[in-house]
Parts: sequence; C-alpha cells; structure tokens
Amino acid sequence: MTPTQALKEEHDGILRMLDILRAICEKMASHKTIQGEHLDQVMAFLRIFIDRCHHGKEERFLFPEMSNAGIPKKADIMDELMDEHAEGRKLVERMGAALERFYRGDQEAPGVFMDAVDRYGTLIRDHIKKENTLLFPQAEKKLSKERQSGMMEEFETLEEEEIGSGRHDQFHRQMDNLSRIYLS
Ligand SMILES: [Fe+2]
Ligand SMILES: [Fe+2]
Repeated sequence: MTPTQALKEEHDGILRMLDILRAICEKMASHKTIQGEHLDQVMAFLRIFIDRCHHGKEERFLFPEMSNAGIPKKADIMDELMDEHAEGRKLVERMGAALERFYRGDQEAPGVFMDAVDRYGTLIRDHIKKENTLLFPQAEKKLSKERQSGMMEEFETLEEEEIGSGRHDQFHRQMDNLSRIYLS
C-alpha cells in the first residue's frame, strides 16, 4: 500500500463518520435522546483519528515531502489545505465547547453544536475531494517508490506515538457500531 492509498482509506472512514455525525444532528434536531457515550466516541474520533493522526501524517510528512519535491507547482494549494486543517480544529473545539454547555443544560447549545457540525462537514468534504483529486495523484506519480515506503514507516511510527497499538482498530469498531445505530 502507498501512503496516498492509506490516506484515501482514512478519508473513506472520515466521510462515514461525517455521515454518522449528520444523522446524530438530525436526531438531536427532532429532540430525540442521544447517548452521551456516542457523542464522546465521535468527538474522540474527530480529535484523535482525524486531527492528530490523519492531519498529522499529512502535515508532518506528505505535505513537506511534496513541497521539497517542488509539487504541486502552485504552492498556495498547500497553504490552503493547511488553513483548512486549522479551521477544522477550531470547529471541533467549538463543537466540544457546545457539548459541555449542553451537558450543563444550556438550551441554545444544540443549535451551536449543529451549526459547527454543518460547517465542519462542508469544510472537510471539500477538503478531502481536493486532496483525492488534486494532490494525491501527483504524489503517486512524482514521489519515488523508496520515499513512499519510507513515508509508510513514518506513518506507522506516528500512529504508535499518538494513539498506540489497538486504538486504531478500536476506532473502526466504534465506527461500525455507530454506523449500525445511526445509518441503517
Ligand atoms: Fe488534509
Ligand atoms: Fe486528508
């Protein structure tokens, strides 16, 4: 597997979690009870799986490697992608803060949470489309095979450092469970 194939697989998981989050918000909007444990699992996925691991792999390894190799020719797309990661991080913080307020009984908090989810979903869906179609094909073509396999090792080390073995599988198990509950 190449680094961009691995990142693309993660994109598929991220898109599924965004669908779950949207379904949770629809339930919330119709005043149905959502288990706090499910919200905690989704928030952990956004903070750890998406931001620390997935965005970490792109920011620490893929983007610099591509910039060093002089690709893409337009450097501003890389800045744009980095800005979008930062924007996503802020929206996740906003969601977390809204949930805290919600748990304390603030009636306006669900609206704030849902608004942040909506913005985050749009941002990340567009972002993934850009990476899959504009950036990754160039990385596949122009980074050497050796460099790509070196990057796979760096990805594994990052994951080990950030979440430890087993946590990645746990995220997937939780996502499968949430899919059965919210997407079927
Ligand atoms: Fe990204
Ligand atoms: Fe990505």
